[in-house]
Amino acid sequence: MIERMNESNQQHRIREEVEEIQKAAARLRKYTPQQLLQWGLDQYGGKIVLACSTGAEDVVLVDMMSRITPSPQIFFLDTEKHFSETYKTLNRIEQRYNIAVKRLKPKLTLEEQETTYGDHLWQHDPDRCCHIRKVEPLREHLRKYEAWITGVRREQSPTRSQAQKVEWDQKFGLLKLNPLVDWTWQDVWNYIRTNQVPYHPLHDVDYPSIGCSVCTRSVKPGEDLRAGRWSGTNKLECGLHQ
Ligand code: ADX
Repeated sequence: MIERMNESNQQHRIREEVEEIQKAAARLRKYTPQQLLQWGLDQYGGKIVLACSTGAEDVVLVDMMSRITPSPQIFFLDTEKHFSETYKTLNRIEQRYNIAVKRLKPKLTLEEQETTYGDHLWQHDPDRCCHIRKVEPLREHLRKYEAWITGVRREQSPTRSQAQKVEWDQKFGLLKLNPLVDWTWQDVWNYIRTNQVPYHPLHDVDYPSIGCSVCTRSVKPGEDLRAGRWSGTNKLECGLHQ
């Protein structure tokens, strides 16, 4: 009680919200991805948004959302260093589902970044590069929303092994839905094939996880799905999910 009185109103409100979400999360854990998306859209309407990188999980979510609503809110973080195939996949998705995906650009152009931090920032300080080109534009955009949806799966990495279907995103201060959290890579591909979902062509040439072209390589047989991300460094996350 005394502790509560010391909290600011906002902290108190957030704590209550988190407690409520934890209760709801226990119930929502049993929902299928489609049921969870339906719940999110019913609950948050125009205040819920999908983060789409064009990776396999995200095209599944675009397909599912498009079946629920004709104009889902979706954004893409355009670091300006993506593979040309990524931009093409984004265009294909928009055409197939007749939707508009919002492209979010960083505040600094690549030239300004180079002037301020030097050439090839992604090589000498990848964390700072991800922060400028992904995390900050995301933070700015999420201010407008109460919930966001991602394609995070537990299987992807040890850093994601505790991810929940519904969780409070402490870092960005809103609800986070991970509808595919307990899906396997095989589940993702079964859905794509069954529903003929357009997907990123680099998946067919050993790129299971795709980020910026300057920080992503293909994986060799036996390597894990994210081995091609920031390869040669011990970096596992770009800062969106940790
Ligand atoms: S990352 O943090 O290492 O880049 P990953 O590529 O596994 O993440 O993607 C996990 C989820 O983060 C995606 O399913 C998607 O929801 C979101 N995400 C990642 N990159 C982007 C991007 N460029 N634009 C929008 N959402 C993204």
